[in-house]
Amino acid sequence: MQSQKCAAVILAAGQGTRMKSALPKVLHEIAGQPLVAWPVEQARLLGCEKISIVVGHGSDSVRNKLGAGDLQYAVQTEQLGTGHALLSAEASLSGFNGTVLLLCGDVPLLRQETLQQLLDLHHAEEAMVTVLTAQVNDPYGYGRIIRDGKLVQAIVEEKDATAEQKTIREINSGIYAFAAPYVFDALRNVGRENAQGEYYLTDIIAAASADGHTVRALQVESPEEVHGINDRIQLAAAARTIRQRLNAALMRQGVSMIDPETTYVDVGVQIGSDTILYPNVSLRGRTLIGRACIIEPGAVLTDCEIGDRVHIKPGSVLAGSKVGDDGAIGPMAHLRPGTILDGDNKIGNFVETKKAHLGIGSQASHLTYLGDAEVGRNVNFGCGTITCNYDGRDKHLTVVEDDVFVGSDTQFIAPVRIGRNSLIAAGSTITKDVPADSLAIARSEQRNIEGWAKEKKKSKK
Ligand code: UD1
Ligand code: MG
Repeated sequence: MQSQKCAAVILAAGQGTRMKSALPKVLHEIAGQPLVAWPVEQARLLGCEKISIVVGHGSDSVRNKLGAGDLQYAVQTEQLGTGHALLSAEASLSGFNGTVLLLCGDVPLLRQETLQQLLDLHHAEEAMVTVLTAQVNDPYGYGRIIRDGKLVQAIVEEKDATAEQKTIREINSGIYAFAAPYVFDALRNVGRENAQGEYYLTDIIAAASADGHTVRALQVESPEEVHGINDRIQLAAAARTIRQRLNAALMRQGVSMIDPETTYVDVGVQIGSDTILYPNVSLRGRTLIGRACIIEPGAVLTDCEIGDRVHIKPGSVLAGSKVGDDGAIGPMAHLRPGTILDGDNKIGNFVETKKAHLGIGSQASHLTYLGDAEVGRNVNFGCGTITCNYDGRDKHLTVVEDDVFVGSDTQFIAPVRIGRNSLIAAGSTITKDVPADSLAIARSEQRNIEGWAKEKKKSKK
């Protein structure tokens, strides 16, 4: 009986020339996750005790993006072929004895169930190698599976295949389960005498088979699962499939989507039941949304925490913000990082907030900027209120206590504090603290000069 311990090696050293990108291929994103994060997550879900990523092109940026944690990195400085790539990971698995699951950093659609089946078959058959294959209409470019019934005898690459072998439609997905340490010993005997001058990982299939070891294949039901991403057209197609899967899961949990094809929700975003998402909504990063919210077209939320029954109206952009229960945001509001709304708040059209904390029931309905503001409960900001928080060098705080009424077109020259229950007259420029229960007026007095306009018109004629 072989050990059923599992370690994963993820190949991610290729350049991805066809992406035409400064970014390594495996860092292009789907639903907020780089391509390489998908097999990493699968390996974790399958309980792999070690996960080693073979990096080469852009290795530092791949490492920086994924971080260390439970991951090992093996650097393949020259890309000499898939066999060479797996051998590069040997040291990072330091004497591992069990099953090595080989995954590709550019194959994001594989389902966990499929990989579990691959492992189960590999273990049940006590195989040395089990390869994941697919039956496709156009096998061009792929390695072909040469079988004798259930047993796999060899994999032949397109460039090395005979005319007859090229008619085989069962292809190698590039995903395998191997017995270790056998696989590493076998790889040391693989040469590079082939059409591409590369160390082919696929050569160990013929070697294992010739030595009388069991080599099996698991054919996936849907070939789409093993599609690799080579260009941006395939990236968009895979993103669409993943979007359908993620959105279907959310709808099953009780989230409504008017048009799931145009609703963009990142992996890891959580949404409560009876929330309705309209078309062209983007929910990104670590965003949490409560129950019975309405999120209208064009809203973009990044790293936000939204309570229950919140209504986010069209075109609003929220980042790093918290909106408490029963809030109403937008249309076209901009909540920037550090915005905290305790509940029952209204932030209306063309209002921008940043590092602003508003107590329950406070509102700013129109054309307002609240930056570096600490605001109590039931404060009403009239149209066109501005916290002048920046003096060109430092940021300063505006404090507005409970139940203050701020008239339209008020500027607060921070730092300044407005005592509770005060009233600021419209058009005021507030430069000094206002005591509680006061009226503050800070505007020049009006003068009417009668007949002046009439005289002016006459003199023009
Ligand atoms: C390989 C298989 C082929 C299979 C196909 C599936 C071999 C020899 N052939 O083809 O049978 O049908 O995958 O897509 O294995 N990589 C490295 N280092 C290297 C070379 C490759 O990390 O030195 C990585 C690539 O980044 C990629 C993966 O390995 O993620 C597969 O390499 P790629 O060149 O796309 O596969 P092929 O050799 O064309
Ligand atoms: Mg290649």
